[in-house]
Amino acid sequence: MTDSVEKTVLPQHVAIVMDGNGRWAEQRGQPRHQGHRAGVDSVRSAVDLCGEKGIKVLTLFAFSSENWRRPRVEVNLLLDLFAITLQRETEKLHENNIRLRIIGNIAAFPEKLRQRIHKAEQHTRHNTALILQIAANYGGRWDIAQAARHLATQCQTGHLTVDQIDEQQMAQATSFGADIPDPDLLIRTGGEQRISNFLLWHSAYAELYFTDTLWPDFDEQAFESALTDYSRRQRRFGKTSEQLSCS
Ligand code: IPE
Ligand code: IPE
Ligand code: MG
Repeated sequence: MTDSVEKTVLPQHVAIVMDGNGRWAEQRGQPRHQGHRAGVDSVRSAVDLCGEKGIKVLTLFAFSSENWRRPRVEVNLLLDLFAITLQRETEKLHENNIRLRIIGNIAAFPEKLRQRIHKAEQHTRHNTALILQIAANYGGRWDIAQAARHLATQCQTGHLTVDQIDEQQMAQATSFGADIPDPDLLIRTGGEQRISNFLLWHSAYAELYFTDTLWPDFDEQAFESALTDYSRRQRRFGKTSEQLSCS
């Protein structure tokens, strides 16, 4: 356990684009799925670190709405790995007082996986130490579109007027709902510097942190480095530095 980052400057919510599994495996002459498997260990270590630090929400990008374009074998392996990991890890998450939420268009998943997701969410729903959000078949544009659809339906049924639609209503209609704050820190591993349709609505003011470290190599020390970097940033939200130093 390390205390190098003070609690006061810790992000409340960290979101991560877990990229680089395939390259990690290729570098070792292994098939890509070995990289995805190794990536599960990094998920465990990131969850543990958030628990130790008292970070309240961790959102992990596990499968994007564009990842269906990959070869069928890889897609199937990723879905199997997701189902197996859910099955294996839910009890431990529950013991550690972690609430699991899956965000994304899960309607596209096989019925058995949907049931497993529902069961894991229900089982952990009252836990309070950490909210672990797994973004699966997630796309930022999908999230905004489904929120718009939801608000339109509410208008149609008379529960909302068009004039009442504002940023707050919109935010609540996204997959985060009313309770989850926007991410303070958005990390992307694997060297690419892009959002890849992740949290488009929610990352409006997230601090971005890009690292070349491939996801399976992203250990506690690498996570600590990202947190230290974050702790040195000045978040101005449109104000001037001078205004912030006066307050
Ligand atoms: C991220 O690793 C995991 C998923 C997208 C599911 P990649 O599989 O994209 O790894 P690279 O980018 O090919 O190395
Ligand atoms: C983003 O990684 C999605 C996940 C990490 C789940 P990709 O590897 O799919 O991103 P692009 O397509 O290279 O931008
Ligand atoms: Mg990638």
